Amino acid sequence: MIRARQVSKVFGSTMALDSVSLDLLPGEVHVLLGENGAGKSTLAKILAGIVSPDSGRIEIGERLAAFANPGEARRAGIELVQQETTVVPKMSVVDNVTLGWERAYTRLGLVRRRRMREDAVRLLRELAPDIPPDAIVDGISGSQKHRVAIARALFSSPRVLILDEPTAALDELERESFFSVVRRVTSRGVAVLYVTHHLAEVPAIGSRVTIMRDGAIVARCAPDTPEPQLVAHIAGRQISMQHHEASAPTPAAAAPVLETVDVCAGEAVDRVSMHVRPGEVLGVYGVGQCGADELAEVLSGHRRADRGRVFVAGRTLGRASVSRALARGVAYVPGERGRNGVVGTLPVRDNITLSVLPRLSPAGVIRRRAEARTAARWTAQLRIKTPDLEAQMSALSGGNQQKVLLARALACETPVLLLKEPTAGIDVQSRQEIYTALKQTAKSGTAIVVITSDLLELLTVADRALVLYRGRVAGEFAGPALTEEAVLGAALGGSAAVPHDSGQ
Ligand SMILES: Nc1ncnc2c1ncn2[C@@H]1O[C@H](COP(=O)(O)OP(=O)(O)OP(=O)(O)O)[C@@H](O)[C@H]1O
Ligand SMILES: [Mg+2]
Repeated sequence: MIRARQVSKVFGSTMALDSVSLDLLPGEVHVLLGENGAGKSTLAKILAGIVSPDSGRIEIGERLAAFANPGEARRAGIELVQQETTVVPKMSVVDNVTLGWERAYTRLGLVRRRRMREDAVRLLRELAPDIPPDAIVDGISGSQKHRVAIARALFSSPRVLILDEPTAALDELERESFFSVVRRVTSRGVAVLYVTHHLAEVPAIGSRVTIMRDGAIVARCAPDTPEPQLVAHIAGRQISMQHHEASAPTPAAAAPVLETVDVCAGEAVDRVSMHVRPGEVLGVYGVGQCGADELAEVLSGHRRADRGRVFVAGRTLGRASVSRALARGVAYVPGERGRNGVVGTLPVRDNITLSVLPRLSPAGVIRRRAEARTAARWTAQLRIKTPDLEAQMSALSGGNQQKVLLARALACETPVLLLKEPTAGIDVQSRQEIYTALKQTAKSGTAIVVITSDLLELLTVADRALVLYRGRVAGEFAGPALTEEAVLGAALGGSAAVPHDSGQ
């Protein structure tokens, strides 16, 4: 259907793609795996006409395809859902979906808006039943925005669909309905290129697997290839995956450093009381509209609780202010696609030290040396792939930008570290390293809160897990009680889940 032949691309001193050849067949889900910075997104963008290759060519059928711009690629039936969500914030959900396809609905000079809207709404009902079609995109969550972008790509009935980490922001349930949509389009003969870091998705959805490393293809294999083998190809060596390993229980004597009492936020969060102690990793898990996003906004100072109180080290957080939350001791790592908080035009170094500058510059003069040292230390520890510390943030791959945000928060050395979806978009090997870094940080006395929709992540990092269901605490699990079944049961509102004050 579409084929890349010996495509190469160089950015400055980085060889992003080195003579890559790959073809997509009708009806297949071709999975593309590889570490952060391996070149996956670059290949996806070249296929979609967003980036032009330095050498090599793209063919559709037997013809050479030379797209001058993404619009031409779209008209040729190639749709790309990018890693960073690209929806138009000020427009409604349904208008985002139909954007650019008015022509397909034009008859006798009139756009048949009713028909167009109906088709879009039908698609949305399947992929995003939780979003009102007329909602303005600005106000919806990261996962919702991403699903709007997917719906937009599907709306044009493409022949080739390129999905760059489509599920990184989706929870288990959203993922399932997304998969059934993908299966449906492939059964109609659409060719899908599927970029992911989630190896469990490979046998679930894949037909073929291609693995990249450092801009080149290093392996092609079947989707039932055992995980350790996939990992070995991705990393270029054998690495060990850590699984649930309970850390030493924290002395219950330590006073909670972050605590909420009956916190409410709009309709989303309903009287949530929680606490986390120094040295502890608390996981917060939920699916769908569970309130986790809004709770994160309250804890990080982006939003004030409508009711109830938040205490950091015994003092109330009060009004909504991120800098105040940070000053009180809560460093926050947002996990949304779109990379909130990344300053694309600043160098990597400044992006890491942004939040610690006050500490590094006691007399107002930034201590350049200290700044460089801090940045270098975290770049090495998290293995951030960048030519050097002066490189612009926007030149880093998606996963490496996410690592920089994590480095920025770790560099703050605050008593509380609050992370949302810390490994969304992070490759398998780096994910393990981040878990190790988090556990070490906890060991040194930091209280860590990980808000995640990734169940495996929860089971791997959390000492204790709080499960939210429709804005309320539906269960709390620790030690041997912290199991996949228990957590999912509570998250889905199962009868095993007993809200601590269900007050019927
Ligand atoms: N616009 C750019 N300018 C400079 N370098 C770039 C640019 N875009 C990508 N690169 C570099 O090219 C390499 C490949 O990046 P790419 O985004 O394709 O990686 P990826 O495999 O998609 O990684 P991730 O899993 O983190 O999304 C990286 O080293 C990246 O820093
Ligand atoms: Mg990428």
